[in-house]
This record gives sequence, C-alpha cells and structure tokens, in this order.
Amino acid sequence: MQLRIAEKVKGLPQGDKVKLGLDDSGSGSVPLNDQRGDERIWHNLHSIYLKNLTERGAVDFLTHKFAEEFAKQLDSLPWMQTTTGLYAFLQQYQFNASTITLVGPRILNYGKDSANKAENQLRFSGTFWEYDTAFMTLMQGMPRFMCRQGWAARDRTLEATKMWLREATEAADIAASSTNKEDKDADPDWDENFGHRLVRERNAELVRYGISFDGRAAMHMGLIWAINANAVPMTAYMLFELVRDPALLQRVRTEIRAGAVFPHGVGALHKVDIAALTRLPLLGSVYSECLRLRSSIPISRRLREDIVIDGYTLKKDSFLLAPSWLSHINEDVWTAPLAASSSATGSKGRIPGAQEFWAERFLHLEATKTKVKLGDYCPYGGGSVICPGRFFAKHEILAAVAMVVTRFDLGFEGYSSLDGTTPSERGPGMEKAECRGIVSLDRDMVVNMRRRDAASVF
Ligand code: HEM
Repeated sequence: MQLRIAEKVKGLPQGDKVKLGLDDSGSGSVPLNDQRGDERIWHNLHSIYLKNLTERGAVDFLTHKFAEEFAKQLDSLPWMQTTTGLYAFLQQYQFNASTITLVGPRILNYGKDSANKAENQLRFSGTFWEYDTAFMTLMQGMPRFMCRQGWAARDRTLEATKMWLREATEAADIAASSTNKEDKDADPDWDENFGHRLVRERNAELVRYGISFDGRAAMHMGLIWAINANAVPMTAYMLFELVRDPALLQRVRTEIRAGAVFPHGVGALHKVDIAALTRLPLLGSVYSECLRLRSSIPISRRLREDIVIDGYTLKKDSFLLAPSWLSHINEDVWTAPLAASSSATGSKGRIPGAQEFWAERFLHLEATKTKVKLGDYCPYGGGSVICPGRFFAKHEILAAVAMVVTRFDLGFEGYSSLDGTTPSERGPGMEKAECRGIVSLDRDMVVNMRRRDAASVF
C-alpha cells in the first residue's frame, strides 16, 4: 500500500519501488523473515523515526525550532491589520515554518524572485497546496489527461524537492570536507542544508540501501507532505472553532495567560514553555475534539496469516482497511456514556451528539473517568506503525494556535471558497471527507486579523 502510494502520488521510480519491495521483514525489531539487518530498510527507517520524533529531547527541539520559525514569519508580516482567509494564512506562514524546521529554508526558494510572473506563481507553498488538493485523485490513479493541473502540481513539487536535495547534498559535502571529524557540531540537531537530523539520517540510510536520487526526492516529498498536509489543516480547524465562538476564544486566551505558556512575554512568543502548553486542559480538549471530528484515516494492513473475526475468515495476504471515521462518530462511545454519568450539557442543554463539536467533551470524559478504547479513537493509527510524528504534531499545532490567538485579535467575517473569491454560507464540511489523515478543508474562514499590543495580551 505504502509503495503503491509512493509510486502513484510521489513519483517513486519503478526500480526503487522494486528494491524497497524486496524487504518483507516488517518495521518491528523482530524480523518477520530471515532478512539480514542491512536489508531491513523499513525497520531501519522506522528506528530513525523513533529516535528523532518520539524521544523527548528531540520533540522539544523540533517544537522550539518550529515556534522560533513561526515567530519569525509572524514578525515579518507587513501589516497591523488585514482581512484574510485564516486557512490561506496558515498555508503560507505555518507551512513555511514547519517546512524550514523539517528540511531547512532552501526549498522555499523554488520559483522565488523571478522577474517572470508565471514563474513566481510556482512558489513552493502555492505549488505544494495545489499538489495536496490533487492528492487523492492521483492516488486513485487518474491519468494525466484527466487531471492535468494535479499532475503538473505534483511534478513541480517534486522538481522543487529535487532542487533542494541536489543543493543540500552539494553544500553538505563541501561542509563535510572542511569540518574536523572530531567536531561535535558535525552531527547537529538541525542544519541549513538538510534541516532536521531526521531528514539527514533518513537520506543517508536511503543512499546506503541504494535508492536513486529521484527515489529519495520522492520519499522526502512524502515526509514534507505528511507533516504539512495534516498539521496545517488541523491548526485551521482548531482556530475556526475558537474564532466562531468568541467566549471560547477568550477562555482559551485566559488559560494560556494563566498557564504562563509564554514566560518571556509577547515579544518572545518563540520561547514557548512546552510543558505548560501541554498542561492546558481546555486547549487540550479542543485539540482532541477537533482531531476526533476532522481526522479520517484508513488503517491498512496486509494479513500475514489467516484470521477469524466474528465468524468470518480473512485470508493470508489480503489487505485490510479499517476506517477510523466510523468509530470517531459512534454515539455509543462519545455521547451515551456521558449522558449516563454526567449532568454536564452543551449550550443547547443536552450532551452534543457525536457529530457535533463540543469543546469540553474530553474534559467531561476525563472527569467521569469514561474509558475510550484505542479502536474507538485512533487519529494517529495504531500498533507498531502508529504515527511517529504524533507528539511533535500535537506540540506544533498547540503552539501555532497559542501563538496566533495571543498575537492577534481575530474577528469572524464569514466563510469563503478556498481561493477566497466566492462567499460561502457554511464552513468546512465533512460531506466529501476523504480517508487520508486530517480531512482537507473545502471552505476557508475569512477573518479580520489585528496585531494585539503587549499590554492587552499579558
Ligand atoms: C495531525 C497530524 C498527523 C496525523 C493525523 C498523522 C497521521 C498518521 C497516520 C494515520 C499514519 C499511519 C499510521 C498507521 O498506519 O497505523 C502516519 C504515519 C506517519 N507519520 Fe503522521 N500524522 C500527523 C503528523 C505527522 C508529522 C508532523 C510527522 C513528522 C514530523 C509525521 C510523520 C509520519 C511518518 C514518518 C509516518 C510513517 C511511519 C512508518 O511508516 O513507520 N506525521 N501518520
């Protein structure tokens, strides 16, 4: 499945697909066959993810780096007040910050500063989001002549990734040849060329395994997609819920202030106290509720042996797809237990149904000690291949929300089409929810954003 997506959507060359397909030993520490350690590419990549995305120090580093880059983006805004699509805003500035955090700043130069207007439109963030819009269509195998724009955006995103990989490799080679081998900075957490150590180590492992330059670019593009195509829309969903309920927004702001999330004040929003950030109960509940309602993932597994479930035999080598969405909106899990054990209600005087957003739902689940099983709530998948980026994703999203609501007054103006050209009666819906992670937004929210002065913030 992973290889099929990599080939169809990311342009993985056939030769690399075959090579990667030779490793059938799984990603766990215990091989599922007798393949040697150096042949176990999936396990080796998985170990690199675990080391760089799940260890506490690594996650804290990534979050601080993201906050620093996002603060720089916010500081560079040329206005005091503007009216804009909130998702469009995040698609540019949060995208830039998390891309720099992951792969360094070089890739954002793609198509930049060109005198040619058409070329300017190829800037990386715009190209990336065009590619993201076509992601599912490409995955379904739509031929080029039926999806020209999507294919063209895919090609340009890949071209940008190749440009970055070529330049990063050359610059890193030059730096390595002039660096003392004993120098402890030879293995920094982050560098200008490859960005985070995760990407540097992953690239080196793919080189060692014999993956071609084009194949590596395709796989790096996949990682850039995994982080942005989930974290940016998820931040947007949270901010939309806060902006359309000013009382909730005010409570979250008060919680951020009382929790001393930015101990050095509004001029140093990048110095976020991550421990304080993750202790905020209401912000945490809004996060979990948005993740419940707006994620839709296909947990996909290949069966290694026959299994019997509920009287049905599922045969070895079959593919199993388990959609998370059905569990995430199951009334028996999300509404009934609270109705039975809690006197709390939402604004309509009842427990909001499972398809409704309720900011406090997770606070009440916790207060009533209601157990939610993994199978009922799995926005990040499950088992040994559960998303390794989930801790960083949560921290990035919470930090981005906290930084935006602390830095700006946000006035709701209405909804619009994604390109901002047509007003819309409604906000983003789930009617066309695609099973791909965080569901893509089909509408933007138009907001009036005004910088807040330090006195009104702290
Ligand atoms: C809200 C944000 C995110 C969501 C909902 C999400 C969801 C997922 C899901 C559902 C999977 C597949 C798990 C399975 O098959 O059981 C996955 C895999 C993965 N995710 Fe995420 N993800 C998010 C953010 C991130 C971020 C920020 C990163 C990196 C910094 C990341 C890196 C990865 C990687 C590398 C894999 C593949 C792991 C492997 O094959 O061993 N994700 N993610």
